[in-house]
Amino acid sequence: MNPRINPSILAADFVNMQAELARIASADFAHVDVMDNHFVPNLTFGPQMVERIQATSPIPLDVHLMITDPDRWAPGYAELGAASVTFHLEAAADPVSLARRLRGIGARAGVAIKPGTAGEALYDILDEFDQILVMTVEPGFGGQGFMPETMPKLRALREQARRRGSDVWLQVDGGISFDTIAQAAEAGADTFVAGSAVYGADDVEAAVTGLRDRARA
Ligand code: DX5
Ligand code: ZN
Repeated sequence: MNPRINPSILAADFVNMQAELARIASADFAHVDVMDNHFVPNLTFGPQMVERIQATSPIPLDVHLMITDPDRWAPGYAELGAASVTFHLEAAADPVSLARRLRGIGARAGVAIKPGTAGEALYDILDEFDQILVMTVEPGFGGQGFMPETMPKLRALREQARRRGSDVWLQVDGGISFDTIAQAAEAGADTFVAGSAVYGADDVEAAVTGLRDRARA
């Protein structure tokens, strides 16, 4: 397995975004957290800003929508060129048709679940998605502590994917650091979002490499 490291630009300096994106050129995807102050109690940016990030980023975008009514808004992020668009299962009216629309536009379709949401509802629809995001903190803020109690759910999703011959990517997001990444990898994650662990480091490139190495161990 070659672990993917997706730095979250939520931890970047928003007014120096071009330089902040250049710093993560050796990573796999730039993780873009869209928050609407409804689905989560925090607000970031919308399609206009993401369009500029898309035009500026040296690596493809992994958009994580923490918004209500993704059925209405998610396709716009695929249309602006994001490589992957992930919406929350808790917020979607019709997750399967939304995933099909995202794929139809040419994006990877992702579905995210909060720490308190069971994974079982996804077992029979794994094939509809290119990636599943198991949140390892309550969505809304960077810099929170990793929740190890989410690991059994991740492990069960990995087992289901194996059993069904699915090549869906399993992503974790929240509190991923040098100390926690190995346990998420061991439980079955192959794609790792890290905000503060990357942008909080003195050497961002070394942090990306170090996280990848620890996920492989
Ligand atoms: C939290 C966001 C995360 C956040 C992770 O709701 O979805 O992507 O940026 O930040 P860290 O890695 O600092 O926990
Ligand atoms: Zn995120």
